[in-house]
This record gives sequence, structure tokens and C-alpha cells, in this order.
Amino acid sequence: MEGDATGGTRMGVGAASTATLTKFRDHLAFPPVLPPYAVGEDGTRYYRVEMRPASARFHSELPAVTVWGYEGLYPGPTIEARSGRPVVVEWANGLPCPHPVAEFIGVHPEGQTSQNDPGRGGASTPMPDPPTPVWTVVHLHGGRTPPTGDGWPDDAFFGGQSDTYTYPNRQRAALLWYHDHAMGITRLNVYAGLAGLYVLRDDEEDALGLPAGDYELPLLLQDRNLDTDADGRLTGELLYKLDQENGEFFGPFNLVNGMIWPHLEVEPRQYRLRIVNGSNARFYRLKLRVEDSGESRTDLFRQIGTDGGLLPRPVDVPPEGLLLAPAERADVIVDFRDFAGRNLVLVNDAPAPFPSGGDLRLPHLEVMQFRVVRACAGDPFFLPDALSSVVPLDPATARATRAISLVENPPGSGMLKLNGKGFRDGVDETPEVDTVEVWEFDNTTDDAHPMHLHLVQFQVLERLKPDGTPGSPVDDNERGWKDTVRTNPQEVTRIIARFEGYTGQYVYHCHILEHEDHDMMRAYVVVPPGMPVMGGHGHGGVGTLG
Ligand code: C2O
Ligand code: CU
Ligand code: CU
Repeated sequence: MEGDATGGTRMGVGAASTATLTKFRDHLAFPPVLPPYAVGEDGTRYYRVEMRPASARFHSELPAVTVWGYEGLYPGPTIEARSGRPVVVEWANGLPCPHPVAEFIGVHPEGQTSQNDPGRGGASTPMPDPPTPVWTVVHLHGGRTPPTGDGWPDDAFFGGQSDTYTYPNRQRAALLWYHDHAMGITRLNVYAGLAGLYVLRDDEEDALGLPAGDYELPLLLQDRNLDTDADGRLTGELLYKLDQENGEFFGPFNLVNGMIWPHLEVEPRQYRLRIVNGSNARFYRLKLRVEDSGESRTDLFRQIGTDGGLLPRPVDVPPEGLLLAPAERADVIVDFRDFAGRNLVLVNDAPAPFPSGGDLRLPHLEVMQFRVVRACAGDPFFLPDALSSVVPLDPATARATRAISLVENPPGSGMLKLNGKGFRDGVDETPEVDTVEVWEFDNTTDDAHPMHLHLVQFQVLERLKPDGTPGSPVDDNERGWKDTVRTNPQEVTRIIARFEGYTGQYVYHCHILEHEDHDMMRAYVVVPPGMPVMGGHGHGGVGTLG
């Protein structure tokens, strides 16, 4: 696509400059593990994490630029935690004004997009005015966290302020991630660099002897765009450019752990990939392309875990690819044993927006390259048939069924609502603590929305057509504990959860960050047993109680 000169004003210098970054030039790096500053007698680990300007060089052919980072790192340092042992983090905002990310809206001539091009060409003046506040709040995504430490969006704090959150870690092993959640500007804060990994481990997982150390690879996938100078050269600075047609961020560059198109030398053996979709809006549908033969393979993957940890047993990845919506995670064993001396490229061909966007916003399919070296000391790992037990929640035990419809409201406005309501429109969902509920997401829009509930891990029951007949299947890799689920257009996605652990106020929302910030987020409250149901139950909020 780089050479396509159609629509002169559209492509211009931008397309030429994307082509100048060499693919797979740089070594993939991994975020460092953060050491606690103290460990209590009970094993509680204490951390202090300051958000500071970070120096980032997205590619060795680009200059270093300033972004935002936890502990001055992008991505943030990884927190390693043990199930049952609390972690206490003082999150401090040490960020200066102004906010480094301005919003540009690209014009969208028929059948084209300026989102594939670096630089501001084809975009309007920056938004917004007045400037974006430098306020932040941290959410541990997938964590069963008391409400006081969950990162309530309005509890964001300014430069010079901090807040201390306790993560009890009373949950099974899983790859969680922490990211910004400040009201109204989450998309800009995460884009600026505020995201990191949180690896929770336990004895059950340890007993499997999964590939570890150098053979366990966390991969944080994100897409970004970059600005250009007057001569059309990439400056390396982040550019947040939307498309007036859909208002979601999609960028031409694929980043892994903060690097554009990296490579990694691997041994001809099995590796454990722990993949997080940390993009604002982009879905990934991943395959491995064998570089010399050009064939695409998904049979080299066996998925062993999802958002909330291990699946009951390893599952195959569908031939279309491993699909990950924003915020979803996949724990995957990949087998490089037959590829000594050859290269494999991780590619993404998910339409953007998903699934209606076609290949318009896929200027580069490549994500990263694996170079399989010849040397090998043998591979002791044998993937067991049984991994864990995931006991299905029984819909017959549900105390309530809640219907939540995903709507564009008003139509054509770009504002997305849940049951016609937004974040300031009160609370309708009030599950009683320790009870089971079924939530039904009725997606009336034309694109998929990844719906995320704080506090809980849930199970996906089924997808239905609006007339109640079966819709798309629940995939094998969705048959575990999930905290984010792809709700397909024109389908009802039914999930079931037990609201256990804590009472208090949480949020649920679409994890396309532009949607979350444009009102596709609502509060829900976990109430103590026997609470009288108090007013405010507007239309459609509560289904059947009883
Ligand atoms: Cu990953 Cu409410 O967020
Ligand atoms: Cu979350
Ligand atoms: Cu959405």
C-alpha cells in the first residue's frame, strides 16, 4: 500500500515516510520487573509507582521522544504477584503539564482514510480547547479489587498527588494489566503510555511446568501513529489522529512492548506467549506467517489461558486466527521446533473497525518477527491435556437477568450509550454480593464492542440473534474465565457472573477507549444481602429479579 499514489492530498508525504522504517530491525525488549520496596511479614509486597515523563524510542531509526510512563517507563514495569498475597501500590502522579497527546480529526474522503498516514496531513486543528487536564487514576484490569482501590474514574488525581491501592490478589493466576482510567480522557492517557503488566501466579499453574524465564514472553500489542516534520520525515512523536467517520483511534504502526515491528531470536522449542491487546480500538486476528514459504499457520498455537487464567484444557486456534478485542488476553504455547533456521512473522488481519472495516486500516499486517536459531539444547516441555478446572456457573441459579442494550444515541452522533444512558445517569445494576446474575448485552450497532466488567471474572453463555435463535458460537478459547467479551453486532451476548468479594461501586464499559470516554460506561453497585431495592430503575435496567 505504501506505493499507492491515489488521492494526492491524502497520501502525500506520509505514505513515503512509513515505508522508511525498516521492519524487524530492532530486538524486542521486555519491561523490567519492579522490585517491591518492602515485604511485610505476611508476605504483602509494597510498591511505589510514580507516573513521570518517559523517554521512548519506538524504533532505532527514530529519535527518542518524551511520552508518559509508570516509573518513567513505557510500557510500565511489570508487577509480579502471588495469588493470596496482597500487593499495596502507592500510585503517584508526577506528570507535568501540558498533556502530550492532542486529538486531531482526519477528513475522510469516500473509501479512504488519513489514519494510515503519519503526520497531520488531512487533519483538522488539534482538539480540544481548553487543554486536557493532567489527571490520572490507575485500574488493575481483571483484578478482584475493593472499590477503594479499583480506580474509580472520578477519583483521578493531579500532578503532585497520589493514592494508595491494595490488591488482595484473592483470585487465581492470570495475566492482568494496569492502565489509566481517568474520567473522560482514558484514551489519551493510555495512548500517552500509561499501561503495564501485572502477572499473578499460583501453585496450580506452577505445577504445570509451563515454559518460564526466557521462554515466557509477555507481548503487549498496541498501535500508534507518528508525527512528521515540515519535510515529511517522521519525528518519532506520538500522533493521535482519528477519522471523522468513526472516531476510533487506529494507527499504521504495530508496536510490541513499545517497539515498532521488532524481532526476537528464539530457540527451536516451545514458548509461552502472554499476549495482551492494549490498543485503544484495534482488534487483532493473529497468525504466524512462515517467511520463506509464505504460508500462514495457526496450528503452531495452542491456547492455554484467557483473561482470567487457565482454560480447562488446551484449545486450537481457529484457522482465521487468534482473535483478541481490546483488553482481552491470550496465554498461548507456540511451537517453533520445526523451524530451526527459519523466520516466522506474527501478522494481524483483523478489520478495523471490527468486523465491518475491511482492510482499509491495515496498511501493514506485520506485528513482529521470530527468528528461530539453529542451536537447541532440547525441549523438556510436554503440554498436558488437562490444565485446570473451570466449573460452569448455572443460569438456573441466577438471581437476576439484566438486559443492557448497546446503542448509538442519538443516531449518527458518535455517542454510544448503554440502555440509552451514560456515566452520569445513575445506577440501574445493583447485584447482591455473592449472588449469580446473567447479563445480556444486546449490540444494536454495526460493530463489535468488547464489554468489560470490573470486579468479576465471568463466563460466556451464548450468543443469540435478536429473534432468539442461535448466533455466533462461543469459541473454545472463550470457555474459561473472562473479564472482557466481544459482543458482535446485531447479536445478544449472554454472560454469567458471581458478584463476589466486595460490595461497592464499580464500572462496566466498552473497552474501545474512545467509546469508554464517549459515554459507553456506567456504574454498577454490588449491594449487601437483603438491601431494599431503591428507586432509579429506569427502563430496561433491571430484568427479572427473583
Ligand atoms: Cu481495562 Cu475499566 O478497564
Ligand atoms: Cu477492568
Ligand atoms: Cu464500543
